[in-house]
Amino acid sequence: MNTRLRRVGVIGWPLEHSLSPIIHQHWMREANLPGKIYEAIPVPPDDLPAFLGSLAGNGFAGCNVTVPHKEAVFSYIESHGTLDATAEHLRAVNLVVLSDNGKMEGRNTDGYGFIESLRERAPNCLPCKKAVVFGAGGAARAILAALQNHGVQSIAVLNRTQERAEQLLEELKISNGKVFGKDDVRAAIKDANILVNTTSLGMLGAPGLEEGIGIAPAELASGPAGDAVVLDIVYTPLQTELLQAAKKQGLAAIDGLGMLMHQAVPSFEAWFGVRPEVTPALRKLLEDELRARGSLG
Ligand code: ATR
Repeated sequence: MNTRLRRVGVIGWPLEHSLSPIIHQHWMREANLPGKIYEAIPVPPDDLPAFLGSLAGNGFAGCNVTVPHKEAVFSYIESHGTLDATAEHLRAVNLVVLSDNGKMEGRNTDGYGFIESLRERAPNCLPCKKAVVFGAGGAARAILAALQNHGVQSIAVLNRTQERAEQLLEELKISNGKVFGKDDVRAAIKDANILVNTTSLGMLGAPGLEEGIGIAPAELASGPAGDAVVLDIVYTPLQTELLQAAKKQGLAAIDGLGMLMHQAVPSFEAWFGVRPEVTPALRKLLEDELRARGSLG
């Protein structure tokens, strides 16, 4: 923990409407940490090394990292600092922590956030027999590794670009993972215990899941086991078509705010030495913000 430094923030490019400042500023008020600030900092890719190199000198205790910088920050810290085991495995960093002597550590809390978000709503959903993951991008990386680490026996991955999914499974050594094509979606989702959308499909302004996966959300939701959990990392809208369909089927439907809030917990604790809580009050703040932006759905 760094007591001297007062600045923290999230870096990304472009960085539009990040909810992270709302989360961390809420916790700063709760923990009575006056004088600390959490900033949303757009950092163009070309400026990233200089930004990271000047973090300590600019009074930062660390920062969160979002799209598209997670892999680049990993590479930077590989040669300028240390990495925790999770960041090392994922080759992606979403949390940078600076010690008092300016030493930089890269961590990754995305998988933690995902698992906690699942457990909050469905405490007994892990371990389980079968998980289905849509997508093979940055978000899928942390989620696939987390599912493997938490005792999922088989993981079916569906992605527009099948080779990307194959590569990801190989890179992460997910030996119980299998890539399915569009034509096999029905077989892939049958009797699944956990179904996760890690793609941007269904997000406001993006194509719907049906367009990307080839099956309507209602049919997608009818495939999994009767007590399955469906999680969508999309939170604009909060109630995606997939989650609405899951609810109609009587399945547990978990929106993307859960993972966002939970992945932030270890960051705040690492910087300030106080473990914050994910509460209904915090969720309400975020929902109010989304409502004000017209993106609650
Ligand atoms: P992130 O870091 O947010 O996961 P990403 O790495 O660009 O972003 O990954 C986005 C995911 O959504 C990918 O799985 C992508 O599929 P491809 O690997 O084939 O690109 C998926 N995705 C995005 N737009 C899509 C679309 N229109 N149809 C199908 N899949 C889409």
